[in-house]
Amino acid sequence: MAKPKITFICQACGAVYNRWQGKCDACGEWNTIVEESSAGGVAGGPQRSRRKGRPSALLPLAGENEEAPRIASGIAELDRATGGGIVRGSAILIGGDPGIGKSTLLMQAASALARRGAKVIYVSGEEAVAQVRLRAERLKAADTSVQLMAETNVEDILATLADAGRPDLVVVDSIQTLWSDTAESAPGTVTQVRTGAQALIRFAKASGAAVVLVGHVTKEGQIAGPRVVEHMVDAVLYFEGEGGHHYRILRTVKNRFGPTDEIGVFEMGDTGLREVANPSELFLGERNDKAPGAAVFAGMEGTRPVLVEIQALVAPSSLGTPRRAVVGWDSARLAMVLAVLEARCGVRLGSHDVYLNVAGGFRISEPAADLAVAAALVSSLSGAALPADSVYFGEVSLSGAARPVAHAVQRLREAEKLGFSAATVPSASADLPKSGISVRAVETLGDLVAHIA
Ligand code: TYD
Ligand code: MG
Repeated sequence: MAKPKITFICQACGAVYNRWQGKCDACGEWNTIVEESSAGGVAGGPQRSRRKGRPSALLPLAGENEEAPRIASGIAELDRATGGGIVRGSAILIGGDPGIGKSTLLMQAASALARRGAKVIYVSGEEAVAQVRLRAERLKAADTSVQLMAETNVEDILATLADAGRPDLVVVDSIQTLWSDTAESAPGTVTQVRTGAQALIRFAKASGAAVVLVGHVTKEGQIAGPRVVEHMVDAVLYFEGEGGHHYRILRTVKNRFGPTDEIGVFEMGDTGLREVANPSELFLGERNDKAPGAAVFAGMEGTRPVLVEIQALVAPSSLGTPRRAVVGWDSARLAMVLAVLEARCGVRLGSHDVYLNVAGGFRISEPAADLAVAAALVSSLSGAALPADSVYFGEVSLSGAARPVAHAVQRLREAEKLGFSAATVPSASADLPKSGISVRAVETLGDLVAHIA
């Protein structure tokens, strides 16, 4: 056998180097590059043999296709995020911080599917059987037909699955605990995680079982993160939430069988995760509408409108370089809105600290929040609260123009449903069917500033 080649692999993103270095050029992380032997491959998989190639079939582009067969869990928020249920024979990665509730979510999903007659196997490499049972009991899932396996060796897992009859769903919690006899690196390294994931993905394709892989987002970089298998799986979902909040958001970032940018919203309680059918009510629940610097943004997450409060604090700075801190939004986007306010609208913020926060631990991923952010900033600077019955949405260009965004009608409808009576929107979005909401159109960011100040 050839001597395994030694390479240096970034544990955060999987970039490969010939020699060690302190910082990964690909993802910018420090101290994440670890020496690994790159020999991999799992027994039963494609061996690097010198077999001759066999001709495969060439097919026309047009042809009859069946809709991807899905297994729906009945947990509406989970089914929404997966695009209508988990596709048979596919591999899904669920990533998230340790302790965010991945195991809880998957145990609830496993038991919901088992109740609907699916054959589900839960492979726990993180926790002992007793711990998994305790959680299942707490989640009122213990009376279902879910089968448990506490195993971390990939070959043993595959052998057990092969004997287990045809499962519909296999949950592997987590990929970081997997290790294969064929890979020489330590468990948790990129080579081991990829080798294990690859073998399980191959099992999914061959058997028709859906395989859900759990991956921890790792902070210190010595353990491979979920990003190193993102490209191998059919769908990638991240389970997010802020410390101190009970909301959890399941966000689709990749889906070969459905839309991305869909979210499922949950609330963590004593007996597990509860679905949140109307997230706007939740996010606006703690609102203090008399305070300056707060603006309600009518956002969209996938197919669903979500109203959230954006809070800004603008205060004179005592530092040479004023602070800019953002929670829940893109800091580069904030810098752009600040620059446009300065350059196009004469709003002086250069000697002010700026803090921006999206309420409820929510994270906004669309640029449509520009107008709402600008409104919150100007309101904080002027010390005057914005009208409590108003929502904002719209993108701002570098020239200061207010640009239309998609789904204006749905945004307004959601705002109306939640009792708002006014909306400030880009003029190109204002030409809408009559509704109970009075629409104020703005051409430019300057118009908005003039309205507020
Ligand atoms: P867990 O699913 O173990 O997280 P992960 O698998 O992502 O590491 O959940 C961990 C947290 O969830 C833990 O702090 C306890 C809390 N929790 C509840 O609040 N209620 C519950 O019913 C359960 C099972 C867990
Ligand atoms: Mg867990």
